[in-house]
Amino acid sequence: METYNFDEQIPRRGTDSVKWDEFEADALPMWVADMDFRTAPAILDALRRRLEHGVFGYELVPQSYYDAVSDWFDRRHGWKGITRAQLVPTTGVIAAYSACIKAMSRPGDQVIVQTPCYNAFFPAIRNNQCTESHNTLVYKDGRYSIDFSDLERKAADPRSTVLLLCNPHNPAGRVWTREELERIGRICLEHGVFVIADEIHCELTYPGHDYTPFATLPEEIVRNSASCISPTKAFNIAGIQIANVFASDPAVLQKVDRAINDNECCDVNVFGCAALEAAYNRSEDWLDALRKYLYDNYLTVCDFLARELPEVTALPLEGTYLMWLDCRAARREGEPLEGFSERFADHLRYNAKLILSTGTIYGADGEGFERLNIACPRERLLDGLERLRKGVRTYARPDRG
Ligand SMILES: Cc1ncc(COP(=O)(O)O)c(C=O)c1O
Repeated sequence: METYNFDEQIPRRGTDSVKWDEFEADALPMWVADMDFRTAPAILDALRRRLEHGVFGYELVPQSYYDAVSDWFDRRHGWKGITRAQLVPTTGVIAAYSACIKAMSRPGDQVIVQTPCYNAFFPAIRNNQCTESHNTLVYKDGRYSIDFSDLERKAADPRSTVLLLCNPHNPAGRVWTREELERIGRICLEHGVFVIADEIHCELTYPGHDYTPFATLPEEIVRNSASCISPTKAFNIAGIQIANVFASDPAVLQKVDRAINDNECCDVNVFGCAALEAAYNRSEDWLDALRKYLYDNYLTVCDFLARELPEVTALPLEGTYLMWLDCRAARREGEPLEGFSERFADHLRYNAKLILSTGTIYGADGEGFERLNIACPRERLLDGLERLRKGVRTYARPDRG
């Protein structure tokens, strides 16, 4: 296996990076979900080759693109037989699930989400004139699980027509098991609720937690679903913007295709196709090395918090590179929980120069939590943890600044 240097510190400030250039120049950004690593060498080669051609007209998505998707999910995840006719490419996963909501709901319907959940789920629901129904995850003994009786109740509400599922779950860090997914799928099927599975984080799972594609569940459940997949998170090419919707039911796919066209996001980036093929066909060992590095980063955070910062509890990370931190014990004496996530995130930003994602942007259930992006070189991670330590100390005792 080739070795890759994930320790390399690649300067990103001044590159018009959302993550790095949106905040103060001396702040360390550990928020939005992209990584500080260079993408896989095979992807860089493919992009260089595409660039060298010099002509960047409209892209016809080639058969080799669909083959790359199909081969990858078969080889890596046991999801067999994806065909071109079951896929629609689009410009990103947000565009993908938004079009799926449009296709499978009517204005005024309720879309079920499992909160705390990815913050960009909320505007997509509203932009499709739907409302949110929260199937709040249960946080017990330091881990999240699904409240199935609540899901059953929410799904039985005739206004609920769609469940927007996140697997693996951002920010809860759970990789849903086959049993959990099948139970979700059965409840939704029984109550006529269509499942949209956002599986953008599917490649990034850790030992003992395998990703189960929703589309590998029993056929009747799969026909009641669409899956949104993309290599962009795992291979750090989010700015290139490419994703696919899969649906096994041709009538569903036709509606989704219509919605993608209505939303004017059916033309893909010329670099997107080249990058996707290189990712899925020639970057597997890079991905495995990355997963190992990220897992070691996760262990580093756990170790640091256990030794140095008992006020902050890291939730187990089964997948994604986004750690969900329970910071409630970092509150000042007598401080109410309400508004704490925002106060604490602001404090970290201005007093410890550390940018995390505020827990409540993922829904009110995120109160007391913050999200930490650990996809960076180890040295930078340790710098972030030191800043977190300083932030916790100065929050509790402002005089110690
Ligand atoms: C669950 C989830 N879905 C979608 C996205 C964004 O997807 P895209 O950039 O392809 O629109 C993210 C980015 O963090 C995410 O976490």
